[in-house]
Amino acid sequence: MTVNTTSLCFRNKAILAPMVRVGTLPMRLLALDYGADIVYCEVERFPLRQNWFWWLKTTRLGLGLLSLKAQSHNNGILEVLGTVDFVAPNERVVFRTCEKEKDRVVFQMGTADAERALAVARLVENDVAGIDVNMGCPKEYSTKGGMGAALLSDPEKIESILTTLVKGICKPVTCKIRILPTKEETISLVKKIEHTGVAAIAVHGRKKEERPQHPVHCDLIKAISEAVSIPVIANGGSHDFIKEYSDIEAFRKATGASSVMIARAAMWNPSIFRKEGPCLLKDVMQEYIKYAVRYDNHYTNTKYCLCQMLREQLENAQGKKLHAAQSMQEICEVFEMCHFYEETTALLEGKNSLLEATDQDVDDQIEDTDVIKVAVRFDKREYPPQITPKMCLLEWCRKEKLPQPVYETIERPRDRLFCSIVTVAEQKYRSTLWEKSKKLAEQAAAIACLRTLGLPEGKWSEAANHLVNKRKRQDQELLNNGDHGNSLETEATYKKPHFPPGVPNPNIS
Ligand code: FNR
Repeated sequence: MTVNTTSLCFRNKAILAPMVRVGTLPMRLLALDYGADIVYCEVERFPLRQNWFWWLKTTRLGLGLLSLKAQSHNNGILEVLGTVDFVAPNERVVFRTCEKEKDRVVFQMGTADAERALAVARLVENDVAGIDVNMGCPKEYSTKGGMGAALLSDPEKIESILTTLVKGICKPVTCKIRILPTKEETISLVKKIEHTGVAAIAVHGRKKEERPQHPVHCDLIKAISEAVSIPVIANGGSHDFIKEYSDIEAFRKATGASSVMIARAAMWNPSIFRKEGPCLLKDVMQEYIKYAVRYDNHYTNTKYCLCQMLREQLENAQGKKLHAAQSMQEICEVFEMCHFYEETTALLEGKNSLLEATDQDVDDQIEDTDVIKVAVRFDKREYPPQITPKMCLLEWCRKEKLPQPVYETIERPRDRLFCSIVTVAEQKYRSTLWEKSKKLAEQAAAIACLRTLGLPEGKWSEAANHLVNKRKRQDQELLNNGDHGNSLETEATYKKPHFPPGVPNPNIS
């Protein structure tokens, strides 16, 4: 695997730090607008603890403010919002990104397992600029699963995770650590990390038991910068150092680092990245809200981030109103942005209706009253290898001396899902559920037909089913005749079935 570290350079960069809940898409876009070079995102840990394969780049948009329906087109890009969403099984959007940040967003994950980390990284790598591993989170919810700062005391695991990621994906890999109890231990660890081939190392200059208000150890970040040749990204300066843009460079110099990563100072006012100096908080908040509405950010998250910006002003009239707001519309009212809210939501809803109309066109194509519809899906795991509902249907048609089943498949442009209609004895059948591939859609149509006709579908659970018995007889006949050169061309006849447990394979005497 060629590691592409040229695409994202970590030298001389002002970087938005990963911040769970804060670093969602609107905040990242705003930071980029104000001049951040790279933005890190953090994803709540729950999907990574779950089986990663349930966590999909998807066509579905969880119900948000606008209750937009699934609106996906090419490659999972949601047409209405123009985003790529990764969604947990409960339909919750765990990571939303868009083209605008694609070359500058680094996806941070919490992990304690190299293979799972790789699986997640592969899932997202085409939509991000880099992958980061969180090795600094001291919170119990991370450390008790061996993630975050718990990794700092397990260098072998660190090496295994980072080497697996560096070898396994094409995007640059970084990690974010905290410092260890002694300088020697810290230097020894970062040297090990450097050898894994990571593109950069972000160092939060505090020990894992130190709180954010404790002074940051610039001397240790400096010692790390001198000890390794990869870029070191200094972090931890918001409290003591970074009050305005020029402080970013001062912090970089004090730590001898290549780049600076900012968390709290950016959370309080993302215009910290602006070379010309910070903007008025009121204007910053309005810009933030625009992105939040535009990208259908959940109102609770929007409110949380705005509260972080208001800080001491939370007790004033505006702060109290924000606290009381129960929807994005109410948040917009607090900031006198009702007009913007109405215009934007109308625009998004308009786009949504257009897409619904396109859907309707496709639905009309298959909306034939003569079609018998059943809500079924094909799940390969329910069938013995090489036995499929299509085969069962074909065999049944042969037995009944009917013409072969005919499949017609339609692809829905909106989400590129497929629906197949099978015609058997002049009757049409389809599943009402749309499938990811033409093959699956055809199998589902076959099931719809078999189930309507009360015929066996070939499942493991039908161990004594008609098809398996028949196949057993056929195979036995072939064996007896020594006829292995059969050239029958159908799926149903040229593959040797594997029989379900409990059904003896007749080929073995
Ligand atoms: C954080 N931090 C953090 N770090 C990390 O690696 N992953 C994460 O998910 C989070 N989440 C998070 C949320 C919030 C609200 C804050 C304030 C911080 C830590 C952060 O990235 C940074 O290391 C510290 O805040 C120190 O940097 P500053 O704040 O001094 O610039």
